[in-house]
Amino acid sequence: MPSATENGTNGATNGTSNYGIPASCPSCPEPLKYSGTLDQYPYFEVTPIIGREYPTLKVTDILRAPNAKEQIRDLAIIISERGVVFFRDQGDLNVPDQKKFCDLLGKLSGRPEENGLHVHPIYRDPGNLKLPDGTTDENIASYVINSDAQKKIYKTMAKRQTDEPRDLSREWHSDSTFENVPSDFSFLKMEETPPHGGDTLWCSGYEIYDRISPPFRSFLEGLTATCAQPVFRSAAAAGNYEVMSPRGSPLNTGDEFAPSHPVVRTNRITGWKAIFAGVGLHVTKINGVYAHEDQMIRDYIMRLITRNHDCIARMKWTKNAAAIWNNTCVWHAATPDTHLVEGNRVGVRASSIGEIPYLDPNSKSRREALGIPIV
Ligand SMILES: [Fe+2]
Repeated sequence: MPSATENGTNGATNGTSNYGIPASCPSCPEPLKYSGTLDQYPYFEVTPIIGREYPTLKVTDILRAPNAKEQIRDLAIIISERGVVFFRDQGDLNVPDQKKFCDLLGKLSGRPEENGLHVHPIYRDPGNLKLPDGTTDENIASYVINSDAQKKIYKTMAKRQTDEPRDLSREWHSDSTFENVPSDFSFLKMEETPPHGGDTLWCSGYEIYDRISPPFRSFLEGLTATCAQPVFRSAAAAGNYEVMSPRGSPLNTGDEFAPSHPVVRTNRITGWKAIFAGVGLHVTKINGVYAHEDQMIRDYIMRLITRNHDCIARMKWTKNAAAIWNNTCVWHAATPDTHLVEGNRVGVRASSIGEIPYLDPNSKSRREALGIPIV
């Protein structure tokens, strides 16, 4: 596998690029191939571009299958190709098995061996919600799904009260991009949901990359972005506790939360390129460009997301529905409208830590790899 240096995308010789991209691409693997073990389960594609739903498949059936490892590896490939996969009626799935399944998705699909489930930085916060059995779990981010809990935990955040409607484009993000080694798979199960509202949306970073012209793609491939999230340090200081450390990787330690990640990234499982750190809640600036250029680039990518709704899959949650997605190739956004309806929204999310994001210059776009014309 050629290094980024050999292909001229950086000139550093110390193991990292000028922009922080691993120069030697140590974890650039060959794409994984689907072996067919999930063909027995009915499914439909949510849209032509993104998303698949298995309407009757139980995650517990996969876990108990004699060839569970092969099925989980195949599902990791399907999730990485389709971006997000939906399931219904997972009431028999308990939290330990949800964690185990999420961990195995990463483990069986080539994640670095030393990594595991993400530990949320402010797990020690006294506002952290308890799980239904009265316990808490450092790998389960139930409070990020609950708006009331968020208000208590992030009490140090600046007030965003305004007399204008909120700009919901700020909801788009990829999980844990504030970490040196961010998440690959996230697994969210919605245990309680209002009769309507609270939909979650996923947008394909593969397809957004495919909507960009070749000269502009090349420009973006030379960029990194700073993904700073100082709110964890300020929340911990206000609550007089230490942030958790390490957090799913020996490289995710301390309380800086300001890594640089490539704007264009290769998914290690499909080998396809996706726009990654060019936009989103945790992205604070494009490195090495002037301030107005930084804003212009991020506005441009957000414009592509918000003006191309054929790149988006939408989940209308039902009780015990679940979604598993690959954060390296999709962004997701919650819809903060549940205050308008009666009913609780209670979700349980586990997230696996993947690898240091890299751009393999030999990798292809999704449409290039699948032979799909651009128009
Ligand atoms: Fe998220």
